[in-house]
Amino acid sequence: MDPKEFDSENAKETFRKHIDSYIYNYPFDLALFPEDKIFIKDLVKSLYFKPGVWAKIEQLRRKDIEQKVNGVDYPVNYNNMIGTCVLSALVARDKRLSDKIIYGTSRGGGTHDIGKTGISDLVVHKEGTYTPQERLAMQMHSLLTLKMLEEEGEDDYITKECGYGHHIWIKPPKDPLAKIKSYPDVSEDFVLSVPARIVCIADTIDSIVKGRPHRKSNEYRVGSVSRAKSEIYRESRIWEQNPDGIHFDPDLVPYFMKYLNRIPTDDGNHQ
Ligand SMILES: [Fe+2]
Repeated sequence: MDPKEFDSENAKETFRKHIDSYIYNYPFDLALFPEDKIFIKDLVKSLYFKPGVWAKIEQLRRKDIEQKVNGVDYPVNYNNMIGTCVLSALVARDKRLSDKIIYGTSRGGGTHDIGKTGISDLVVHKEGTYTPQERLAMQMHSLLTLKMLEEEGEDDYITKECGYGHHIWIKPPKDPLAKIKSYPDVSEDFVLSVPARIVCIADTIDSIVKGRPHRKSNEYRVGSVSRAKSEIYRESRIWEQNPDGIHFDPDLVPYFMKYLNRIPTDDGNHQ
C-alpha cells in the first residue's frame, strides 16, 4: 500500500478504536481496572508513528480482513498487535520503568509484527501446520519489522528492539531442533532488552488466549488462559519439560500473571 494513498490520522483513529474495544472486553475480557483503562487511553492518545509506519499497521489490518479464514471474525494479526501493545504497556508501567521506556515498549507492542506485511498471505494466513519452508519464511517477519521501521525513519531504539527481538529466547536452547524456536539467530553473549522481553511474553499470552488461524482451534476463554499460564511457566525456567533454554524472563512472569488471574471465564470463575 502506498502511504500517500491513505491518511495516517484515519489509521491512528482505527487503531485507537481497536484499543478501546480491546480494553472493553473484545475478544476476551481482560478485566482491567478503571485506572488501567485511563492509563491506556491516555497513552494511545499520545502514540506517534511516522505515516509510513501507520501505513504498515493499517496494511496488516486490511490483509487480515481480506484473508479472513477459519471463522475468525476479527483481524487476527492486527488485533494481536493491539493486545500486545496494551499488555506490554501495563507491565512496563507496573514494573516502574521510565516513561520513555513505557512509551517505547507500547510502540514496540503495537508494531512488532508489521514485518508480516512482507510475507506471502498464503503463509501468514495458512490454516494448519507450517511446512519447514513456510516456517522459515514466517520467521523472517521480526527482521522484516526492523527493516521496515528503519526504512520509515523510526528513530526509537526501544521500538526497534521489540520488533527485532520479540521471538528471541533470553537463553536460547542448545538442542538444534529446539533452537529454531528462537529467532533470528543471535550470538551467545546477546542480551535481550527488557522491553523486548515484555513484548515477547505479551505477544505469546495474547496469541494463546485468542487463538490463531494456523492452529486448529480458535477457541478462547475456556481453558486458554490456563494454557497460556502453563506455557509461560514451562518456558521461563530450565526443567524436565523445558530442558535446555529459557524463553521468558522469570522476573517478568508475575507481572503478567496478575492480569491473567483477572480474566473471567464463561462460567464467571477465574482460571
Ligand atoms: Fe511475531
